[in-house]
Amino acid sequence: MKPPPPLWGRIEVEGISFHTPTHTLTRRGGGEICWKKNDFLIFSFASVKILRYLFYHIAWISWPFRFFLVIPAKAGIHVLRIPVFKGTSLDSRFHGNDILNGQKMRVLAIETSCDDTGAAVVLNGRKILSNVVSSQVSIHQKYGGVVPELASRRHIEMIVPIVTEALETAKLTLREIDGIAVTQGPGLVGSLLVGLSFAKSLSFASGLPLAGVNHVEAHLSAIFLEKETPRFPFVGLVVSGGHTSLFRVDGFGKFKRLGQTRDDAAGEAFDKVAKLLGLGYPGGPVIDELSKKGNPKAIRFPRPFLGKNSLDFSFSGIKTSVVNYVKSHPATQEGYPRELIGDIVSSFQEAVVEVLVQKTIQAAQHEKLKRIVLAGGVAANRLLRERMKDEALGHKIAVYIPSPPFCTDNAAMVGVVGYEYLKRGIRAPLSLNAFSNMPL
Ligand code: KG4
Ligand code: ZN
Repeated sequence: MKPPPPLWGRIEVEGISFHTPTHTLTRRGGGEICWKKNDFLIFSFASVKILRYLFYHIAWISWPFRFFLVIPAKAGIHVLRIPVFKGTSLDSRFHGNDILNGQKMRVLAIETSCDDTGAAVVLNGRKILSNVVSSQVSIHQKYGGVVPELASRRHIEMIVPIVTEALETAKLTLREIDGIAVTQGPGLVGSLLVGLSFAKSLSFASGLPLAGVNHVEAHLSAIFLEKETPRFPFVGLVVSGGHTSLFRVDGFGKFKRLGQTRDDAAGEAFDKVAKLLGLGYPGGPVIDELSKKGNPKAIRFPRPFLGKNSLDFSFSGIKTSVVNYVKSHPATQEGYPRELIGDIVSSFQEAVVEVLVQKTIQAAQHEKLKRIVLAGGVAANRLLRERMKDEALGHKIAVYIPSPPFCTDNAAMVGVVGYEYLKRGIRAPLSLNAFSNMPL
């Protein structure tokens, strides 16, 4: 297809025809090009009527009184006017290239489930060609946690520059990409919708196949970006700001949940304790750092094991004990003594890590497995990494932990899962939706 000339200004469209594999939509209306950045044009429409169908079938991002439809510039107005995909299925391009011959597959991956806008290009689900993450920490820090509305607004601002940067760093254009992977859930629904809508628009306009990825599965798969990768099956512990779960993993898409938290996630407990002590957000890395100077045995916080054979977790009790301890040791006029803070966070971390390690080893023994994989933001924790390896060694169990940047949220891990799905011919429809809750 010959790329259309650049378009600026208002577009009047007599009958907008959109062709998806299942629908042809025709509506009268118009819109303005409000922004152009490299490969992308963003059209803004003020009319809800025109976009009612798009809402369900293509992609939209709501912004106070406007709607944005994102379409790659190369497809331009042709996507709106002319049935670019008429008579073809969205999969036709996919079947036509070299992926199915087992050659190469470059997946553009997008991750916006919480407060990091991430985009990556991953080759054959293993090799990172680019991995760009834009953190929102500075925005949420003053609130002591993620503010969902601010997070989704920031994603809208960052999604185009971040995807553009990922393509540029990989030295590729959209035409050289073979598939798109996007986090579908679980996460903050407003944040998820930004990445999902963008990915669907891109898939629709370019004809590239789309894969919807579960964020927890992506965390568990981050290990495949490392040099040393585990063989299946293994026990996977996912510890992040939203999750603390143990799985038996028999392959991509093959999970059995062995246990999960009954209340707070481990990362959430780190964040809440840090907030209580005025240490800032996110709490995990700060506590990790401050613990180095504290005495882990100074205070004996509870270790909730929930029964001998239970593989479930509970962290709210530990957190409450920290609250009670702080209440009974009020700060002086000069504030909280630095050494005491060190002792509190170090003792808290010790309690959390002890429970995580013991339960994970117990799960491996229960499943008679000799491999453990750690995943999620809390897996970046220095003590957890060390302790898990030491304990597992005694049981002749191998431990695999991604390097810290692949423990916290990133798009490369989404690319790993997306590749595995697309390779097997599993594609998401354009009606793909986002889910805040999405069990594996
Ligand atoms: O996986 P992630 O980036 O986002 C979610 O999916 O939630 O995890 C973020 C969580 C936060 O709660 C953060 O405090 C925690 O991971 N975290 C850590 C460390 N680095 C990040 N917790 C303990 N020690 C760390 N070094
Ligand atoms: Zn995460």
